[in-house]
Amino acid sequence: MKHDIFEKNSLILLIGILIVVSIGGLVEIAPLFLLSSTIEKVQGMRPYSPLELAGRDIYIREGCYNCHSQMIRSLRDEVERYGHYSLAAESMYDHPFQWGSKRTGPDLARVGGKYSDNWHVDHMRDPRSVVPESVMPGYPFLAKRKLDFSDMGARMKALRVAGVPYTDEMIEKSQEDVVAQISPDSAEAKALLERYPKAQVRKFDRAPGGDPTELDAMIAYLQMLGTLVDFTKFDAAGPNLR
Ligand code: HEC
Repeated sequence: MKHDIFEKNSLILLIGILIVVSIGGLVEIAPLFLLSSTIEKVQGMRPYSPLELAGRDIYIREGCYNCHSQMIRSLRDEVERYGHYSLAAESMYDHPFQWGSKRTGPDLARVGGKYSDNWHVDHMRDPRSVVPESVMPGYPFLAKRKLDFSDMGARMKALRVAGVPYTDEMIEKSQEDVVAQISPDSAEAKALLERYPKAQVRKFDRAPGGDPTELDAMIAYLQMLGTLVDFTKFDAAGPNLR
């Protein structure tokens, strides 16, 4: 028997294992270096508007990811409950991504548009006021805290280093865009929509007038999650990719 040599000599066995395993590794890894991109482009994806980005930062600050995932898997029960499975492109501008693996609460990848702003205002203040059996903690302070957006430009610049295509104009207008997104019918809001198509413009926290609050940012973020890609036009087989 020729493989005696492997069975009787552990060093040769080790070398043999290394050779076989590295062939497997090469077959898996080498093609990835030849592809120009591992993320297929999908119509509708754009970077977060400054207000949405501020909301996302609060989401991370408050640790919402400890109870909520943002990735719908392609399993039937998930798709029936949450909607179309998540595409890689949908988190291509997320640094860090919020996929998560802990679901004390539901997946939030497509929560945008599921509830009214009023619902979110109540739910953030006191989850039990709208879902009596909820174990989610309340975040009543978000409504009271003014949003600090003095460093939005710097945050966007940092993301640009990580590959998010923010333009100089977007960075320059970041402060104005935060205010524009809660000022419907303003000229600034129109300019915002040109930079960030499909951005929703309104006073999200339902409080009359005034400066943007942390709750504005949080609800602006929640209401846009999963709304950018139009799935009536999306075909996983390909025609609409790019
Ligand atoms: C201790 C775990 C926990 C934390 C932390 C948590 N949640 Fe929740 N969340 C839940 C649970 C459980 C539910 C389901 C019951 C409910 O709707 O309140 C839920 C529901 C929600 C829903 C409604 C989802 C749906 O589809 O019905 C939203 C939106 C939400 N959470 C946002 C947040 C945000 C934003 C934060 C951070 C500020 C957060 N949650 C932090 C546990 C949590």
